[in-house]
Amino acid sequence: MYKTVTVPLPGREYDILIGPGTLARLGEWTREHARAKRAVVITETNINPLYGEQALLAMAEGGAEAVSMSFPAGEVSKNLDTIGALLKAMFHLEPAIDRGTAVVGLGGGVATDMAGFVAAICLRGLRWIACPTSLLAAVDASVGGKTGVDHEQGKNLIGAFHQPSGVIIDVNTLRSLDRRELGNGLAECVKHAVIRDPVMLDELANGAADLQTVDEAGHLAFDAERMTELVARNVAIKAAVVAEDEKESGLRAILNFGHTVGHGVEALIGYDVIRHGEAVSLGMVAANRISVQRGLLDSATADRVEEVLGKLALPIRKGNLNFDAVWRIMQHDKKARDGRVRFVLARDLGDVAIYDDVTKDEVRAAVEYVSQP
Ligand SMILES: NC(=O)c1ccc[n+]([C@@H]2O[C@H](COP(=O)([O-])OP(=O)(O)OC[C@H]3O[C@@H](n4cnc5c(N)ncnc54)[C@H](O)[C@@H]3O)[C@@H](O)[C@H]2O)c1
Ligand SMILES: [Zn+2]
Repeated sequence: MYKTVTVPLPGREYDILIGPGTLARLGEWTREHARAKRAVVITETNINPLYGEQALLAMAEGGAEAVSMSFPAGEVSKNLDTIGALLKAMFHLEPAIDRGTAVVGLGGGVATDMAGFVAAICLRGLRWIACPTSLLAAVDASVGGKTGVDHEQGKNLIGAFHQPSGVIIDVNTLRSLDRRELGNGLAECVKHAVIRDPVMLDELANGAADLQTVDEAGHLAFDAERMTELVARNVAIKAAVVAEDEKESGLRAILNFGHTVGHGVEALIGYDVIRHGEAVSLGMVAANRISVQRGLLDSATADRVEEVLGKLALPIRKGNLNFDAVWRIMQHDKKARDGRVRFVLARDLGDVAIYDDVTKDEVRAAVEYVSQP
């Protein structure tokens, strides 16, 4: 029932293990993939009580010595102060850590981004293993080697590329996500479907009910095999794009589909109010509207994407969006080049391209379309 996806980076190839119960292999992977007998597990206060013990047990069973450290959950912790505190705790460990000590990031994208960054800078680089527990971290943050923290001036402004030695995704850990966090990851899945995998769009539509079913205890009751397959497909798409363009000089930018307007909406409404995936959902609707207006995409296809987003309980309209405010934020986005905001536009399902000539009026029309009741 397990699936393995290899991220084919020359010289730094690594495997991603996906399936129900894969966390039990953490110790074995720490020894074999990170070539370490000792590890520091970095996690956060929501995840530690849920999966911390399981992770340490798996370490012991796999013959790796491990300690865990947890920081307060949430994006507010994703900063250099927390990194400083984690490093301090690591340097106080007895016996002292060395280059043979591995780091494990256990949690959502915040924990994996931070653990990866600690690994990148501690003793000039330790090997690390990512164990993403949110769907967003599984299908997006854990693939590609971007690590880092936020700064007062903006999100993810400080960081390093540091590929993990392996990634373990235990789909059973995703069962404790709430529906909104699930949707957060599903939006990135829809994005991957639009940029590279039209068949997956149908599968998301067909599987929408199963993926979101909740049992009496409030846990997601999805079919483990379906989730394993879904995560594997998404990881493979992101891995393929990243392998072709590791440092984001060109192609990797297609992963920003839906993110241009999405980031604007997210910053305008507030990160604490709207989830990233919800903003990206609106951003994808807006981008497709630009495509339709340009005659690049037929409107039936754009409608189909909206229908699938709706089935996944993602927003496709958001009243009262102030276009001027969204536009202003888009201008400051670090993905803007030469003062122009680039757009990834779909020409068909599975076929997107980067356009530098999208006008303010086109963006206005698209944002107004999304803002209609
Ligand atoms: N490195 C990359 O390429 C990349 C890509 C996308 C996003 N990111 C980063 O990822 C972060 C967002 O990731 P996220 O949405 O996972 O945020 P997160 O880590 O804050 O997790 C979201 C919430 O879900 C909780 N959670 C996580 N797993 C859970 C589980 N199994 N059960 C119950 N609760 C769980 C967390 O405690 C948190 O409250 C952002 O900081 C973003 O910048 C990085
Ligand atoms: Zn995203």
